[in-house]
Amino acid sequence: MEAMRILMDEHQSLAAIIHAIRHLIGEIGAGRLAPDYKLLQAMVHYLDAYPEKRHHPKEDAYLFGPLKLKTSEGAQALARLEREHHESDARIKALEAALETYVRGEAGGFDGFKAAFEAYADFYREHMLLEEREVLPLILQHFTAEDWARAEAGFLADDPLRGTRAKAGEEDFTRIFSKLVEAAPAPIGLGGGPYKAD
Ligand SMILES: [Fe+2]
Ligand SMILES: [Fe+2]
Repeated sequence: MEAMRILMDEHQSLAAIIHAIRHLIGEIGAGRLAPDYKLLQAMVHYLDAYPEKRHHPKEDAYLFGPLKLKTSEGAQALARLEREHHESDARIKALEAALETYVRGEAGGFDGFKAAFEAYADFYREHMLLEEREVLPLILQHFTAEDWARAEAGFLADDPLRGTRAKAGEEDFTRIFSKLVEAAPAPIGLGGGPYKAD
């Protein structure tokens, strides 16, 4: 069940980035940390390029879509997840806009970004819990060996966390993730900031 492993890995790395951003916002808000805008922008870019653009399409194509064809169980949860996957662009745009307002130094920028990020983080916690608690058990129950083979092939063909698999011209998410962790302050990261893209 390689597909399931990759899915859970991706949920964990998404949760790690969300946790890191929440920590940064907390430290900035408490006056213990000067904002590293480039690091925050890189983290928000990671959320867009990786979970929003790569993770959800795989779930739909290889797990949720095939499940829907097999059973009507979980139909409500699947409909909600599908809708949430489609709202991906709007979700990330709201977060990016709030961050840009903050970076420009506009009044209320920090509080606006903090609120937008909290909404994003709350959304994701619910989204991942719904997938893990309600839908994955149904997949385990209904998938045949053939379904798993197809899901595995699909997930392995697009496993951006495996740095060695990054194709030419593609972002290497393992490397980006390491750089984000490196730049983030302790105890989340290694405190090696400020963040530099290269
Ligand atoms: Fe999802
Ligand atoms: Fe997911």
